[in-house]
Amino acid sequence: MERLQKVIALSGYCSRRKAEELIQKGQVKVNGQIVTQMGVKVSNNDFIEVEGNPINEKEEKVYYILNKPRGIVTTTNDEKGRKTVVDLIKTEKRIYPVGRLDYDTTGLIILTNDGELTNYLIHPKNNIEKVYVAKLKGIILKEDLNKICSGVFIDGKKTSKAKAKILRVDKKTNTSVVELIIHEGRNHQVKKMFEAIGFNVLKLKRESISFLTLDGLKSGEYRPLSIKEVKMLYGEKNN
Ligand code: URA
Repeated sequence: MERLQKVIALSGYCSRRKAEELIQKGQVKVNGQIVTQMGVKVSNNDFIEVEGNPINEKEEKVYYILNKPRGIVTTTNDEKGRKTVVDLIKTEKRIYPVGRLDYDTTGLIILTNDGELTNYLIHPKNNIEKVYVAKLKGIILKEDLNKICSGVFIDGKKTSKAKAKILRVDKKTNTSVVELIIHEGRNHQVKKMFEAIGFNVLKLKRESISFLTLDGLKSGEYRPLSIKEVKMLYGEKNN
């Protein structure tokens, strides 16, 4: 038996805090009955619905990594009818992306129906490393990068320590290419970090998340994670 809000969070539907809010608002049913009391415990045999959606904890878990192309949205369903990352993957399961890449950002994204792993991977306190390569307008100097590495203010909050190195500068086209390693996942974080020091990002690609890389995956291609890789991600979680 587990607490209702925990089971909802583990399903990946929303965070535990949001689940508590939904319970209080009368948006959660257990076996057809609205539950507004906090702390109710449920088992695998209970039928749970949140905002009318059944939560199915027993579904087999699946995991994919995708090399996201440009011009694809990172949601399960786009109100403007644009192609989503989920549309690129052939599966019967109700998968969703872990975190977000902008419409024009390319690179590595994980998709799964495992809410527990999702919540772990996106929570900033768990320090999951993400490597990005950004092409910038202008010629960047080491001093500029030092500012980014020690933290810059975006949306009124300082970013945590990062690592960065210059990969190339091209004086003819007045552009630079920089590798940036961060552990957070705030909205448009990389673009805003460079904007904070006066540089526009022209192109952005996520090269890796933790030990997962894009090796062998061309743009638009995906593959399931191996059992070993999933265990390693869970291994990080339990370290
Ligand atoms: N940071 C951004 O600015 N955009 C992304 O898509 C990912 C990280």
